[in-house]
Amino acid sequence: MKREIIMTRSEQRKERIARSMTRIRDLAGNQAPNYETLGKIKGELIELAREKDLFSIEDFPPPDAGGKRSNCLYRLSEDEDHRFALYANAAQGTVNAPPHDHTTWAVIVGITGEEENRFYKKREDGVEIFDKNVVQEGAGVTLMPDDIHSIHITEGEPVLNFHMYGLALEQLPGRNYWSDKNKEWKVFPPHTDIREARS
Ligand SMILES: [Fe+2]
Repeated sequence: MKREIIMTRSEQRKERIARSMTRIRDLAGNQAPNYETLGKIKGELIELAREKDLFSIEDFPPPDAGGKRSNCLYRLSEDEDHRFALYANAAQGTVNAPPHDHTTWAVIVGITGEEENRFYKKREDGVEIFDKNVVQEGAGVTLMPDDIHSIHITEGEPVLNFHMYGLALEQLPGRNYWSDKNKEWKVFPPHTDIREARS
């Protein structure tokens, strides 16, 4: 008699994430990824994002309205050496993250809602926008360590997307952002709302 194994949603999610992470580690190999590799990682995350039942706003709610932050991160996966860090980013309300780098590679892929990404070139006196792209269902963006982007979410429908980094955010103390108010590059402060969601 065949034994039926019933998995909870969180077990299914864990297993499905682990499958994608294995493929992503294989795609990346031991070399620093280039845009071509990042494109393949993006494809893998777009596949993962199709699992709507496993990645819903109900399971990954944004912070309560009226709080300090309008977005939070759920840590979904991270290797022991802190590489291949995958987060679900949940947001509701206005988000305007200033132009910043990551000092590691990054891939962002949409699940629900829209997040506008703007891309910049460095200039002597700051940054200059040269492109933009909307992260939404079935779409994403890739960034090399020195690439600069800003993130914009407008009030309305909640947003849920995957943010994946070559290294966990706690390991990236040297990320920089352009302060338009002070007209200078500043160190990006640590994220204040990262929630553990690996089990
Ligand atoms: Fe970013």
